[in-house]
Order: sequence, then C-alpha cells, then structure tokens
Amino acid sequence: MDQIKDVYVLDDEIKRLKNQNQLLEEYEGPVYNHIFRKKRGQAVLDIGCNNGMKTVERFDRKEIESVTGIEYHKELVAFANTRYKGEKFVFYQADLEDSGLEMVLKKDMKEKKITGYDVINISFVLMHLKEPEKLLCRLKKYLKKNGTMMIIDAEDRFSTMVPDEQKRMKLFLDICQRDPLSGNRHSGEKIKRYLKKSGYHKIVVHSKCVNAKEKEKEKKELIFDTFFSYLPLDYAYLCETEPEDSDYFGIKRKVKQHYAIFRKEFVEKSVYVACGVMIFTCCR
Ligand SMILES: C[S@@+](CC[C@H](N)C(=O)[O-])C[C@H]1O[C@@H](n2cnc3c(N)ncnc32)[C@H](O)[C@@H]1O
Repeated sequence: MDQIKDVYVLDDEIKRLKNQNQLLEEYEGPVYNHIFRKKRGQAVLDIGCNNGMKTVERFDRKEIESVTGIEYHKELVAFANTRYKGEKFVFYQADLEDSGLEMVLKKDMKEKKITGYDVINISFVLMHLKEPEKLLCRLKKYLKKNGTMMIIDAEDRFSTMVPDEQKRMKLFLDICQRDPLSGNRHSGEKIKRYLKKSGYHKIVVHSKCVNAKEKEKEKKELIFDTFFSYLPLDYAYLCETEPEDSDYFGIKRKVKQHYAIFRKEFVEKSVYVACGVMIFTCCR
C-alpha cells in the first residue's frame, strides 16, 4: 500500500484541507488576483488537485476559461468530475512522477486546442514528491511563454512560537518531520534553487509564513489545525500499518502526552505563532 498517497482520501484530511484553504486565502488571494488581472480566456493547470474543491474555489473566476486538475487518486478524480466537471473544469488521474502525466496533458491540450497553460498551480504537492525538481523541469514546456507558475509549499524553518519556554513548537516540528505522511517539511527552501536550475525566470517569493498575533484566537485555531491536527491520526495509522517500527509507538505516546497542552498554549496563551508556508511565482 502506498501510504503517502492513500492518506489523502481520508475524511479528516479533506476536512483539514478545507481549514487550510480558509487560512491561506488571505495570503494567496492577492497573488492570484495579480496573476489573473492580465486577460480573459486563461487556461489553468492545477497539479495535485485532491477532490477538486479547492481547484474550483480558487479558479472559478471570470478571467479563466478552462481548468484541468491532475490527481493521483482515482476516487478523488471521480468525485471531482462528478461534482464539478463541465465547460470549465475537468479532472484527470495521473501520477506526477511517471510518464502518464505527459499523455494526459497532451490529450487535454489537443482537446482544448491550446499550446500550453497560462497558469500552472502546484500547491502543497512538491513536498510529497520523490523528485520535485524533475516535475518542475518537465512542466516547463507546458507553461505558455508569458504564463505564470504558482507554487505553495511548506517550510518549517519559518515556524515559531514566542514565548515557548517548554520548547513545544520544536518538539512538534520534530514530530512532523519524523512523520512520512506529512511530506518534506523543508521543501520550500529548495524550490527557488530548483526553479533557477530548471531555467525559470522572474522568481518571486510572496510570503514565507502564516502567522497570528497573541489575541487572534480563531486564526491560531486554523493554523494549529492546518499544521498539527493530523499528527494523532497519522501516528495511530503508522503504528497500525508498520507495527515492527517501535519508533512510531514512542512518538505516538509523545503526541498523546503533549498534544492537548501544546494546542492550549498555541491557541489560548499570549503567544505569537507562525508556521512556514512559502508562496512563489515564476515565469518561463
Ligand atoms: C496536500 S494535498 C494538496 C491539495 C491541493 N493542491 C491544495 O492545495 O489543497 C496533495 C495532493 O497531491 C496529490 N499527490 C501527491 N503525490 C502525487 C503524485 N505523485 N501524483 C499525483 N498526485 C499526487 C495527493 O493525492 C493530494 O491530493
């Protein structure tokens, strides 16, 4: 079983992604507005689109004519097509790390009579790939000459909680890092280098973290939920599926011991919090 990919069909994960979307709107919204200001009739490619909900939320706008979502999971693609397929949206199943992706993109471009996409969107996907640089390189030829690639990815280097005398943020960042289901937590810092190496230009970093001041309780709840709420479930799942790995049992115990108090400190105490999320745009 491919755990890394299978976790995305779980209801809890879909709920978590919904909260993540609400949180990110403030940061990504202005960047999308800037990208789409240019012209009407744009074609968008959304890479790693999950069940299509966020794809529709992000790209159901008048400047966009067509949106193609690519997702590994057949069930998620079927859900997305049943719910959203129409004149504007279509979803295909493909593994981003094998050659099936090219076939799907060529077919889609032929059907739409386009030579490339105006916008390629890759949100929280590179951190889950074995070879993210390879994908960026392969996608370059599908981005139109004046098109824009938008990337959103995690980077725990920018995560902090102040004050944090018990160093609970560090403990939980370490726990995230040990969790194979949560992807590469230091993916963000490598992206600029990958983009440069793959020959992209006009690379802009729009933001590095989401943050909340001491009194912004609701926002802190969203941040906590987005970045840490999956840990109890992930470690329960890992202990069940990999019972021979005793480390997972130790971490599961640690999560159980510190989770509630960490959440309380994070949300209710007078602390400033930030969690690393990098937003990039670049051109061909
Ligand atoms: C964290 S979710 C992000 C979903 C969405 N892009 C967003 O911003 O909310 C990552 C998605 O990428 C998909 N994914 C991961 N690896 C993939 C691969 N190799 N091929 C296709 N999709 C993949 C996962 O199944 C999942 O739906």
